[in-house]
Amino acid sequence: MRKIKLDTFPVGGLHGIINVPGDKSISHRALMIGAISEGQTVINHFLWSQDCRSTLNALRQLGVTILENKEQVIVHGEGIGSLKSPEQSLEMGNSGTTTRLLMGLLAGTNFTSSLQGDESLSQRPMKRVADPLSKMGAKIATTKRGTLPAVVTGSKIHGTNIQLQVASAQVKSAVIFAALQADAPMTVTEKLPTRNHTELMLRKFGADITTQSDQKTINIKPVDKLRGQVINVPGDISSAAFFLVAAAIVPNSKVLLKNVSLNPTRTGILRVLEQMGANFRIFYKENKDESYGDIEIRTSSLKSIRIAENDIPALIDELPLVALLAACADGVSEIRGAAELRVKETDRITTVIQELSKLGVLINELPDGMVIHGRKSWETNTNVLDSHGDHRIGMMMAVAALRTDQELYLNDSGAIAVSYPSFFVDLKSLLNGRS
Ligand code: S3P
Repeated sequence: MRKIKLDTFPVGGLHGIINVPGDKSISHRALMIGAISEGQTVINHFLWSQDCRSTLNALRQLGVTILENKEQVIVHGEGIGSLKSPEQSLEMGNSGTTTRLLMGLLAGTNFTSSLQGDESLSQRPMKRVADPLSKMGAKIATTKRGTLPAVVTGSKIHGTNIQLQVASAQVKSAVIFAALQADAPMTVTEKLPTRNHTELMLRKFGADITTQSDQKTINIKPVDKLRGQVINVPGDISSAAFFLVAAAIVPNSKVLLKNVSLNPTRTGILRVLEQMGANFRIFYKENKDESYGDIEIRTSSLKSIRIAENDIPALIDELPLVALLAACADGVSEIRGAAELRVKETDRITTVIQELSKLGVLINELPDGMVIHGRKSWETNTNVLDSHGDHRIGMMMAVAALRTDQELYLNDSGAIAVSYPSFFVDLKSLLNGRS
């Protein structure tokens, strides 16, 4: 429960260059896919964060040899079917991605594994994964509420077409992982297209997996063998987003974010910034696997925005930041179709409203989103903000604090290590940068 003092206005603007830490989604997937491939998988620019550590430790418990140094991880995969029965319950920590993706990997093994998580993760829905996997023959027992702890009893997996009820890349990825071990080819159809890192990476490792032109239907063939690869993890746009927004809303700022993932299934925040009139430029770099590039952004005057259900998957993790952008924009903005926010690390509709309201932002709750009234300045009514144990809420509020001129503290700042352990070091470097 670490309480820290936040930087507040007046700050002299944000200036400098950030080498954005590795993408969390890609880091998790590189570990898991490396674990079921044959030979070495070398992961460069891996994200060392608590969530990725949960995946790494769980795979070690499953008998996978993984070597590590500061920025590189080497997975010695022994192929599909090589995972070994763990001696103890697998510890998922706070990581939804570790839990849900692993359920897919474990579904087709020949052993039983138990999964447990921290208090927040133990509230989050797991039936959304257990249900489609059960249709494929998997045996997954959760609590009556459909939450962790869970027990996965490895079984024979049948190739059958699956229609997903929620737009979730975690659920889709779990189904794809199980499908690799199925007895027949199958398709999985999403409600809306979600991030496609699993599909792109599996193709690179040799899987026969294709996405139809609707971007929602994926055909997967079972595989005997995947081959280890070198994965260069781009910077996480969900981490870069905190500085994109900070630079846009703090006067006199200019920031360059280096080597950021520009996979179109993740760049919803850039489309939002564009529609709101933000002042930024993108420099794309050549890459055949996952697109990436640099983004330069300056202080911007912002217009209001309306976000609807179709926009959500490509910016699901950035919605707290969209609320903050809207709070600084001219006019009234709306986020709708975002009920998924209620089942993240916290109920992010409630926690965003609770925390931004403390700064005097006028913001109303909707069952599936929020209405935000933009203002030039706010009237803070407390000096203690709270992450509620949610990394993205903690970082968003640290950025929001830069627009307020009261002394402010953040409770439970330690939660930020889940995805961005060096967040405050990077923020400080921009605050100390020269204009
Ligand atoms: C993730 C997918 C998203 C996202 C999460 C990471 C992934 O979750 O919010 O931070 O790596 O697949 P959902 O699949 O629940 O939408």
